[in-house]
Amino acid sequence: MARKDEGYKKTTRIVHGAARTARWDYSHHVVPPLTASTTFRLESVARGARGFTEFGSFRSEETAEPVYIYDRLDEPTRGLLESQVAAMEGADFCLAFASGMAAVSASLGAVLTAGDEVVAHTLIYGCTHSLLTNWYPRLGIKVKRADFTDLKAVAKAIGPRTRALYFESPVNPTLDLVDLRGVAELARRASKGRRRRVLSVIDSTFATPFCQRPIEHGIDLVVHSLTKNIGGFGTEIGGAVCGPKDLFPDVMGYRKDFGGVLSPKAAWNILVYGVPTIPLRIKRQQYTALQVARWLESQPLVEEVRYPGLDNFPQRALALKQMRDFDGGFAPGNMIYFRLDPRRASGARFVDHVAKHAYCVTLAVSLGHTKTLIEMPSAMTHSAYAGSGPMREHGGIRLSIGLESPVDIIRDLSASLKAVSRRK
Ligand SMILES: Cc1ncc(COP(=O)(O)O)c(C=O)c1O
Repeated sequence: MARKDEGYKKTTRIVHGAARTARWDYSHHVVPPLTASTTFRLESVARGARGFTEFGSFRSEETAEPVYIYDRLDEPTRGLLESQVAAMEGADFCLAFASGMAAVSASLGAVLTAGDEVVAHTLIYGCTHSLLTNWYPRLGIKVKRADFTDLKAVAKAIGPRTRALYFESPVNPTLDLVDLRGVAELARRASKGRRRRVLSVIDSTFATPFCQRPIEHGIDLVVHSLTKNIGGFGTEIGGAVCGPKDLFPDVMGYRKDFGGVLSPKAAWNILVYGVPTIPLRIKRQQYTALQVARWLESQPLVEEVRYPGLDNFPQRALALKQMRDFDGGFAPGNMIYFRLDPRRASGARFVDHVAKHAYCVTLAVSLGHTKTLIEMPSAMTHSAYAGSGPMREHGGIRLSIGLESPVDIIRDLSASLKAVSRRK
């Protein structure tokens, strides 16, 4: 049964929390059990009726004995993961989806209807860009783009039909930051009661709840690709939407009917391996990222390095303000974006060389992995922009730092830089 976790640090609670929930009594297990039952015995029509009546209404973690009906609606292993992620984010609820994109589309799909408008940052993950540009017009949802690093531009873009402000911070792949409090305040001011509510929605995948908790800054909905840092080992695809209890019925109802629910088997891996190791992994990766970013900065072939942990990061003050870990330490994350000087070396040739010769840097999309991954967003993850708009001038390279020694990551990058230098 639930035991009090008050006064314990978040780092401790994410290791033990799942064993102490009222959601499900398995107090004799040390590791939460993995359930694999698509359907649940209801015992009586009355109990079945209670399950269906209660489904979709928000239940606090204190409420014991939820009536489980069917996996797609709600189920215990996934529910335990959801409790853990909600607790990390400081959200009333978390709902887990089959992928990050299922979570992105639910965060907006659950609150928008035809005729509504969403204002989105100019640069977002390629598939989210594709969702907004290729699919939303077909559904009668208007999409306006604005530069979210400029709050005045966002304020100007908000119109009478705006219902959501959508962005990432740090932005994939450039690592620009958006002022969370600023956007939350714009959404609050633009809202006219419950009937004309403007929601702020962030995809916080790059940061993880360890590095940033947007709800503390007033943001309404937080989206994650669980595939990345939260899963952490590169074995599961998943997504999550976290938010306030009044939005729970919409997001839960959307998941039930659109059906993109996370499988309990994937949830169990993320719950047992991913979540408890987040602080350990990210702290180590941040240490390494700073070494690698500083080394990149010192390389004559490298024109620009962006990492929020660098002293000269253009939005350093904002990074220090909103990227904080569970214990209040600065948490700039594990992602680096850099560009080579095109007169001295080609970025594509460099990445190709890494792909062929490096031992511990792998050319692959995705991020937040135990292994260091490198890719060229303009040609890969952000190809939906087709070299236009904000991706027009970016021949940049994205590096997701893994758990290897910084010495070895630098060794591999250094060998490839030397090999592709135009001046030897
Ligand atoms: C910032 C961001 N959001 C969402 C997604 C989509 O996640 P998934 O691949 O789990 O659908 C990605 C994937 O790379 C991402 O980088």
